[in-house]
This record gives sequence, structure tokens and C-alpha cells, in this order.
Amino acid sequence: MILGMFVLGWIAVNYPMSPTKIKLFVWHKSLGISILILVLLRIAWRLTDRTPALPNHMRTWERRLAHTSHMLMYLVMVTMPLSGWVINSAANFPLKLYGLIRLPNIAPAGKALQTQAELVHFTFFWILVALLLLHIGAALWHHFVQRDEILTRMLPGTTRRLRKAAD
Ligand code: HEM
Ligand code: HEM
Repeated sequence: MILGMFVLGWIAVNYPMSPTKIKLFVWHKSLGISILILVLLRIAWRLTDRTPALPNHMRTWERRLAHTSHMLMYLVMVTMPLSGWVINSAANFPLKLYGLIRLPNIAPAGKALQTQAELVHFTFFWILVALLLLHIGAALWHHFVQRDEILTRMLPGTTRRLRKAAD
């Protein structure tokens, strides 16, 4: 969903002013708010459940880098939709989730705030691109160079198998 939002956000911003541009933004905003809800649920789940241990061969710096980059990705995944919502509120556009549910403004209207929120949205987008290059590169490195189970254990049902083996 996040990767789709990159494409959608980029196309919407660069599309010439037209009813299609408005539609692209309606989808961008509705999907973005849906991502915010899913990420908050994921964070609650992550804080209350165990995660499978990292492979034993991983050195301390690798564990720290993995942990830090994951935490940063969660931070960016919350900041992206929130800053988008602030842009919308500062611009005083009505925000309707999938054209159905009216959402309140979360910030006062104002051009200066809108410009600042746009800068945050844009900057965090590039921060997320950098983190994802590291993230996807690391996943491929684990799979093809280290040849461990980090990538394949993302498949459904794997966590249950790993937990059974650990208990
Ligand atoms: C995970 C969620 C999101 C991602 C990954 C994302 C990504 C992007 C990207 C890549 C752009 C184009 C680059 C830019 O000008 O910043 C963009 C623009 C924009 N997004 Fe989002 N977005 C998200 C959520 C939202 C939400 C929830 C809203 C509003 C409720 C929103 C409102 C906007 C607006 C108004 C723009 C145009 C900004 C401008 O004209 O400078 N976005 N977004
Ligand atoms: C081609 C795309 C991607 C691949 C191959 C990939 C792969 C992986 C792998 C292998 C893990 C480690 C799981 C483990 O420790 O067992 C992981 C975790 C994670 N991924 Fe991705 N990922 C991708 C895209 C993304 C995207 C787009 C995001 C969102 C920004 C993301 C966010 C995360 C986070 C936050 C974790 C840590 C999960 C946790 O421990 O709570 N990933 N990913």
C-alpha cells in the first residue's frame, strides 16, 4: 500500500488541473488515512506480541541497524499520513473518507502551516525512500548472501512454525 501511495502521490501532484486530478487526490487521501489506521493497529499489535528472534549469526551492529531502521519506518509511516492530513486541514479542504465519512480538521487553516506541512510530507517521503532502499537491500542480502530465513519467514504461517520450534 505504501509503495502504491508513492506512485499515486507523485502522479496526483504532477497531473494537470482537472476532475481526474481531484479524483486521484481523493483516493490518495482515503488510502493514506486507511494506512494510518492499519499502522496504528500494527503498532499496538507489535507492542503487545512477541516477534520471532533474529538469526544467531547476526552481529550486534546488524541487530541494532535492523531495529533502528524498523522503528524509523514506523515513525515515518505515522508522520506521512498525519502531515498529509495537516496539509488538508490547513488548506481547509473538506476530507471525506472514500467520499462517505467526513473527517474533522486536525489543524487550523493557514497558508504558512500548509507550506510547512507540505515540506514535512515531501521530506519524509524521501526519508522513507532511503529507508526502503536499505530495507529491501537488506532483505535481499539476507536471502541471497547470508542465505538465512529472514525473507522467507515473512510468508503466512511461518511465525506459528517458528514459535512452535522455540517453545
Ligand atoms: C502513508 C501515507 C502517505 C504517503 C506514502 C504519501 C505520499 C505522498 C507523495 C509521494 C506525494 C507527492 C510528493 C509531495 O509533493 O509530497 C504526496 C503528496 C500529497 N499528499 Fe500524500 N501521502 C500519504 C498520505 C496522505 C494523506 C493521508 C493525505 C491527506 C489527508 C495526503 C495529502 C497529500 C497532499 C495534499 C499532497 C500534495 C502536496 C503538495 O502539493 O505539495 N497524503 N503524498
Ligand atoms: C519489496 C518490499 C519489501 C520486502 C522484500 C520486505 C521485507 C521485509 C523483511 C524480510 C522483514 C523482516 C521480518 C523478520 O524480522 O522476520 C521486514 C520487516 C519490516 N518491514 Fe518490510 N519489506 C518490504 C517492504 C516494506 C515496506 C514498503 C514497508 C513500509 C514502510 C516495510 C516495513 C517493515 C517494517 C516496519 C518491518 C519490521 C517489522 C517488525 O519487526 O515490527 N517493509 N520486511
